[in-house]
Amino acid sequence: MDHFLYRTGSLHAEDVRLSDIAATVGTPFYCYSTATLTRHYHLFTEALSPLPHMVCFAIKSLSNLAVLKVLGDLGAGMDVVSGGEYRRARAAGVPGDRIVFSGVGKTREEMRLALEGGIRQFNVESEPEMRALSEVATAMGLRAPIAVRVNPDVDARTHEKIATGKKENKFGIPIARASEVYAEAARLPGLEVVGIDVHIGSQLTKLEPFEQAYLKVADLTGRLRAEGHEIRRLDLGGGLGIPYTRSNEAPPLPLDYGALIKRTVGHLGCEIEIEPGRLIAGNSGVLVARVIYVKEGEGRDFLILDAAMNDLVRPSMYGAHHDIVPLDEPAPATEPRPYDVVGPVCETGDTFAKARPLPPMAEGDLVAFRSAGAYGAVMASEYNTRPLVPEVLVKDDHFAVIRARPTFDEILKRDSIPEWL
Ligand code: LLP
Repeated sequence: MDHFLYRTGSLHAEDVRLSDIAATVGTPFYCYSTATLTRHYHLFTEALSPLPHMVCFAIKSLSNLAVLKVLGDLGAGMDVVSGGEYRRARAAGVPGDRIVFSGVGKTREEMRLALEGGIRQFNVESEPEMRALSEVATAMGLRAPIAVRVNPDVDARTHEKIATGKKENKFGIPIARASEVYAEAARLPGLEVVGIDVHIGSQLTKLEPFEQAYLKVADLTGRLRAEGHEIRRLDLGGGLGIPYTRSNEAPPLPLDYGALIKRTVGHLGCEIEIEPGRLIAGNSGVLVARVIYVKEGEGRDFLILDAAMNDLVRPSMYGAHHDIVPLDEPAPATEPRPYDVVGPVCETGDTFAKARPLPPMAEGDLVAFRSAGAYGAVMASEYNTRPLVPEVLVKDDHFAVIRARPTFDEILKRDSIPEWL
């Protein structure tokens, strides 16, 4: 459930009419709902209770400081994958001991930054990375808390670009080599082993792949403990999928996911971490755009919007489906018409949807892309020198711009022409 609903014929974010935001901020813009973010975060904490746990929001899915502050103030931890994301978490007021640092390619500078500022744990993904981290920590007179990310060789049954738990993927160390790798970690002077990490992919719509992976982690926990390692924490990654349409089969609920965690690893006495991004952020946000033109094509009509692939890249990058709805609620008997919904960017790939049934649309009409909170604004670019879309946060009956649309002056000023030209 989210807080984007039609009321008195007009799509609202909580108690704010989205068309009112459009009138103030201009289009396109992203809009997030505080109540939905809060609700989704609590679904996970409730699902994991009474196990000791920390829900670490995967910042990569939505990294605006105001959003991080909403979640951080609720007690959420953060999963970061770069020095930039680490800085965001800290700037939003999240203490270092609630931040986990994931990612295959952490640089020594990033390690130093996190060790200086405080860190809950590094999820290390290879032996060279482990050695580098030990060196950096030792030079600082510290020991870095680590979990080793293991690759369980499980098919997550999701889009190939976002599956991460198969042995051919670049992530983690093969689970079969875990004993060896943990033995080396224990010998390295700058490391303190605290647990095991696993993440098998994103937008998972079945529980079985999680189950396979977590059973392997449970088994590994026993083995590593028998080998003398202190495994007190299990980071089980993110990846629980969300419904992108109202019609398709709904993915499992956080409550079922929590029950699965309890069943597979709950008996081990470990603190549980999870790193959800999409489930918290996805349906907490919409992208609002305006129809620039309705163009009659050969056997089809094009709805040309002022949003484009640079603003929301998921349809062109993954063939992803986003529901598109008019801000003005269509009358019940309205006959839908098929539209190819496109943006103004000069590529055929700048297509959001083909033959999408929508009520008859006209120039100036407003539409919302649903489920756009996760991997929306964060993946936007300024391709075609289109300014990054502003972001707006709603709480109850008020809203604030939480990232302003850059001016063209600001955009042009970032470039410089050398004096020798
Ligand atoms: N933890 C790790 C280590 C990850 O790599 C990811 C996502 C997450 C947690 C969060 O996964 P989530 O709960 O959001 O599924 N851009 C793609 C998704 C990429 C996911 C990358 N890793 C998309 O738009 O579908």
